[in-house]
Amino acid sequence: MEPRMGKLVPTVQLLSIGDANVELAFSSIPRMPQFGQKILVPELTLRAAGSATNFALCGASLGAKTGFAGRLAVDSFGEVVLKAFREVGVDTKFLQLVEDASTSVTAAIISENGEGALFVYQGTIAQLEYEALKKCLETNPAPRWVHFAGYFLLESLQGKPVTDLLQLAQSRGATTSLDFGWDPTGWSDEVIEQVFDAIQFIDVFFPNANEVKALTGESSAKKGAKQLLEAGAPTLVVKLGTKGCLLATKKDEVMIPGFDVNVVDTTAAGDVFDAGFAVSMLTGATMGRAAVFANAVAALHVSRPRSQSLFPSLEETSAFLMRHRPLDV
Ligand SMILES: Nc1ncnc2c1ncn2[C@@H]1O[C@H](COP(=O)(O)OP(=O)(O)OP(=O)(O)O)[C@@H](O)[C@H]1O
Ligand SMILES: [Mg+2]
Repeated sequence: MEPRMGKLVPTVQLLSIGDANVELAFSSIPRMPQFGQKILVPELTLRAAGSATNFALCGASLGAKTGFAGRLAVDSFGEVVLKAFREVGVDTKFLQLVEDASTSVTAAIISENGEGALFVYQGTIAQLEYEALKKCLETNPAPRWVHFAGYFLLESLQGKPVTDLLQLAQSRGATTSLDFGWDPTGWSDEVIEQVFDAIQFIDVFFPNANEVKALTGESSAKKGAKQLLEAGAPTLVVKLGTKGCLLATKKDEVMIPGFDVNVVDTTAAGDVFDAGFAVSMLTGATMGRAAVFANAVAALHVSRPRSQSLFPSLEETSAFLMRHRPLDV
C-alpha cells in the first residue's frame, strides 16, 4: 500500500532563541588608526551573525529542522540575516520583524594575527518580546530541543523571563540548552545569581572554561563543573578550545579530545560546537558520541576561511570524521 501523503507540516525540531545581527568584519588590519586618520582595509566580509543565529544556521546545515526566534528590523541588514536563514532553510515563522527600528550590527576589526576588537550596536535585540517567545513555545508540536544564546545582549529577557521560558520549554517536553557566553560587564553577583537560577531548568549547559571559572571561582574545569552540576544542570559540556571538551554529569566526567587542524578563524566555534552537540543528540547519539561530533564540526569550522559563508554540512562533517582521529590526551 502507498503511504498516505497527508499534508506535510514542517515542524521545528531544534529551536534557537536569541541574538541576530549583521557582522561587518575588516580583517588583516596592520594597525588601529587614531581618530582623524584613515587606513585601507585589505579584507571585508559581511554576514549574518550572533550566537543564536550561528547556532540556527549550523543546526540547519547539519540537517536538523531548525527554527530561529529573535528580533530583526525591516531594513537592509535584517534582509542579510533573512537571506542567510533562507539559504539553509531555517524556519523563520517565530521571528519578530519590526518596522521603525534598526537591526543589530557588529563591526569587527581583526588584526593580522587574528585578534579582534568589536563594536556592537544592539538595535532590535535588546527588546526581544517575552510574550511572543512564550507563544512560540506553546505552539504545537513543541520543538524537541530549545537552545538560548546571546543572553548578555537580550536585555528584556535577563533574569526571570529566561528562567520562565526555560521552565516552559521543559514542561512542553523539550530538552533545553543554554550558552550564556562571556559577560562583558564583568560577572556581578546579580548576574551570577541569574545564571544559577536558570541552571535549574537547563538540561545541557554549554560554558567554556573561563566562564566556569567566573561562575564558580574554580580554575579547574572539573572542580567548577562539580559545583555547577550540584546547582542543578544535569549535563555540562565545558568547551576547552584546541583540547576539545569536558563532558560532565553527576555520575561521570570524561575529557573528549579535540581534533588537530590548521586554525584559520575561531569566530563562532562555540556556537557551532553547541549546534553539533544538539543535532547529534537529536539523531539518537549518546552524549559521548555527540561530544565527539561537536568537536569535529567545530574543528572543521575553525579550519575554514572566513570567506566561507556556510557552516559545515552533515556530509562534510562525516567525511572529516572518517579522515581524522581526535588528539591523544
Ligand atoms: N584551535 C582549535 N582546534 C580544534 N578545535 C577547536 C579549536 N578551537 C576551538 N575548537 C573546537 O571548538 C569548540 C568550541 O571552542 P571554544 O572552546 O573556544 O568555545 P567558546 O569559548 O565557547 O567559543 P566562542 O568564543 O565561539 O564562544 C572546542 O570545544 C573545540 O571542539
Ligand atoms: Mg562561547
